[in-house]
Amino acid sequence: MATADQIKALIKTHAEGDDARFYAIAMQVAAQEARQGHGRLAQELTDAVDAAKERARTGGRRTPMVAISKEMGEVLAVGQPRLHLADMVLPDEIRARLQRILRENRQQAKLNAHALSPRRKVLLTGPPGSGKTMTAAVLAGELHLPLFTVRLEGLITKYLGETAAKLRLVFEAMVKARGVYFFDEFDSIGGQRALANDVGEARRILSSFLQLLEQDDSTGLIVAATNHVSLLDGALFRRFDDVLEYGIPGKDLVKRLITSRLAAFPTPDLDWDGVLLAAEGLSCAELAAACDDAAKDMILADAALLETADLARAMDERRTIRR
Ligand SMILES: Nc1ncnc2c1ncn2[C@@H]1O[C@H](COP(=O)(O)OP(=O)(O)OP(=O)(O)O)[C@@H](O)[C@H]1O
Ligand SMILES: [Mg+2]
Repeated sequence: MATADQIKALIKTHAEGDDARFYAIAMQVAAQEARQGHGRLAQELTDAVDAAKERARTGGRRTPMVAISKEMGEVLAVGQPRLHLADMVLPDEIRARLQRILRENRQQAKLNAHALSPRRKVLLTGPPGSGKTMTAAVLAGELHLPLFTVRLEGLITKYLGETAAKLRLVFEAMVKARGVYFFDEFDSIGGQRALANDVGEARRILSSFLQLLEQDDSTGLIVAATNHVSLLDGALFRRFDDVLEYGIPGKDLVKRLITSRLAAFPTPDLDWDGVLLAAEGLSCAELAAACDDAAKDMILADAALLETADLARAMDERRTIRR
């Protein structure tokens, strides 16, 4: 047992933020326990100190352990997003399903102890600007994992068999470096008419992917996103643990998105009927961009308020750009 003096010293050093001294005392306690034959407790204490030191060293974040080789650099881009689920405006059902994915992955060890595994393979479908890429970044941000985005232009080549070989490299990387692996524009791999110009080759790429996905037992997440769900091969769906369908936001979400995006700017009571009318059919990305446009105009014009008409105009402009 730790002595009363040791416990007092632990509390004092913790309160003073003297980490080095705190760990030294904890190691003293561990050594004492080991001498008294309490090997297991001693080991647990040592492990706890090691983990705490590692967390302090990396700022609580796991850093991507792979230095991406030149060859992999053509296929994978790595980043460390800082986004959180709270940054997104989502229908309750999608938020709940993302929370569940996060919960299961945060407590992976607990599940594994019962021969269960977390949801790791997620397909995101929905129109442009609905938050699919942002979701991949949020999953990485929330789990403190690196985000590896698969570069399709590097992956899909015109040389027969090369794409399947590169795909295999990506799946090998998943085992070496835990992370969120994001396959954007997934229809070009998983579509019946893939980017490959040869039908036989397209089928080969798809079947390699299916096989690799099925065999994969790495511990990170695999997130695929597509705007063209109808192009996806039916065999794919059951290989994902979750399929989340994003859409054009309804009135309630539009209101929440605008309110949160403009929270830092002075708005009068917006005429919501007018705003919602102007917002109809716009994607989350377009709404976010229109809010930023209106806010920038207000700042640069030294205006005191951001008015409904300014916001409506910005939204109309976004709609025009799209056409
Ligand atoms: N649900 C959302 N909540 C808050 N902001 C959002 C949401 N969806 C999109 N945005 C904003 O729009 C930007 C673009 O969205 P994102 O790139 O995630 O869309 P996407 O679905 O991946 O589109 P694409 O199909 O074109 O790749 C985000 O970076 C964010 O600023
Ligand atoms: Mg995207």
